[in-house]
Amino acid sequence: AQSDPTICGMPLKYVSLVTLAVQNAALSIVMHYSRVSTPPSRSYSPAAAVLLNEVIKGSISFIIAVSRASPPAINSFPPMTPATPWHQYDKPSLAQSLRALFQPVAHVCAEIFSADCWKLSIPALLYVIQNSLQFVAISNLPVASFQVTYQMKILTTAAFSVALLRKRLSSTKWLSLFFLAIGVGIVQLQTLSGSATKMQDQPVGSAHDSAPLHIHVMSPLKGFAAVTAACFTSGLAGVYFEMVLKGSKADLWVRNVQLSLFSLIPAVLPILYSTYGSPAAAYPEVPSPSFMQGLFRNFGGWAWATVIVQVLGGLITAIVIKYSDNILKGFATSLSIIISFLASVVLFDFRMTPSFLIGASTVLAATWMYNQPTDDVGRSASALMNK
Ligand code: C5P
Repeated sequence: AQSDPTICGMPLKYVSLVTLAVQNAALSIVMHYSRVSTPPSRSYSPAAAVLLNEVIKGSISFIIAVSRASPPAINSFPPMTPATPWHQYDKPSLAQSLRALFQPVAHVCAEIFSADCWKLSIPALLYVIQNSLQFVAISNLPVASFQVTYQMKILTTAAFSVALLRKRLSSTKWLSLFFLAIGVGIVQLQTLSGSATKMQDQPVGSAHDSAPLHIHVMSPLKGFAAVTAACFTSGLAGVYFEMVLKGSKADLWVRNVQLSLFSLIPAVLPILYSTYGSPAAAYPEVPSPSFMQGLFRNFGGWAWATVIVQVLGGLITAIVIKYSDNILKGFATSLSIIISFLASVVLFDFRMTPSFLIGASTVLAATWMYNQPTDDVGRSASALMNK
């Protein structure tokens, strides 16, 4: 059994779930604003954001993994106490100090490039696709509609848990999934009925400046198609990652570095293609930008904020999958629906229609119902993998 780690005396499991709920709401709001607040000619490249996310997340995970690997050389030095005369203290040589520094790095690198690292290539590819689809979805849907529809992740996660982890779901869970689909359907129908195809975005929190930045035209059909596809990759990648993580003894942070390393390939390929494959199409008005200049064109504060919130989300998601599971993760994200609603009304002048309220409430109730503890949830991933 997993010992329950704590943070400031509170169980990490619950701290991470609440943080994930807030992060999810913040991401959809910040990402939406970063996309719709500028005209397309001045918007940043989502591919650059996806790549940056993986580079930063991978680097942070690597630092955490190294800091957790115990440095044996330092531990073996005799402790220096006031009673110890300085000349008796065995001062470490430069070689010893370097070894103390590089041993954990070498140890973590050896773990990263272990024989089973290829297992992470599948969720890595899926997450890159998902992270890219998220940009398409959030640019074409109001934040609240995006959040509600994204709850379909619960359905796909359940389906893949049944198929891959051979989890069994109680009849209550199946019924709640049915209600979830109905609720999402209601929200989709009311969004598609045209109430939000054109949105006039207001600058966030600018009471002093009431002029809209510009009219951002959204295409809900495109948005829904992207979010549906993202739900599939989310379900499959989440279950696959849980399977790999709980099926071996490898450290979570090492797994995260492996995930980010494998993500670099699918994240870089579209950038290389758009830069060198069709340079004229990619950057028409800049004759010959350097690779980095082209990549980070228009990469302003909101783009950076999006990446940072995304990095945070990736790190918390990994912790949640490790210490809870994908099903509890679904519960946390449903909390974010409420946060997003309230924020959308205040920040984006989102108008709640009765049918939206009915659909969203159905989704919330279904999520709550799905997460009621039952005896027949089925075998956990770890039990399955360790049997
Ligand atoms: O919506 P969902 O929970 O599927 O989103 C998962 C997000 O967390 C993705 O953006 C993915 O890149 C990230 N993630 C991560 N590291 C993990 C697991 C997920 O960065 N170990």
